[in-house]
Amino acid sequence: MVHSFDTKRVQLQIFTQQRYGPNPVCCANKESQVLLELLRQEVANNRLDIDLVTTPCLLRCDDGPNIRLLPGNKIWSFVSIDTIPDIVLTCKEICKND
Ligand code: FES
Repeated sequence: MVHSFDTKRVQLQIFTQQRYGPNPVCCANKESQVLLELLRQEVANNRLDIDLVTTPCLLRCDDGPNIRLLPGNKIWSFVSIDTIPDIVLTCKEICKND
C-alpha cells in the first residue's frame, strides 16, 4: 500500500474517508475498505504494476464509494463488487499501453 503521491506511476485511488455523526455519508460507510481489499487481491492476482492509494474525501460523498484512476482522472462512483471487473480491465489496458 502506497500513501504518497507519485505522479509518474499509475494509481488507483480508493476514497476511504470516515465521517462521524448522526447520519454520516462517506465512502467508509459504503464499504470502501471491502472494495480496497478486493482490489488489492485483483492487483496481485493480475500482477498489475499499479499503486493502490487510500485517500480522503473527493467531495462527492453522495456518489460514493468513489475510486479514481490516475493518470486520466477516470472516476468510478457508486462502486460495488460488480464494478471491480471494469476497474481491473481498465487498469490492465493502461498497464498494457504503459
Ligand atoms: S467520503 Fe468519499 S467522496 Fe467524500
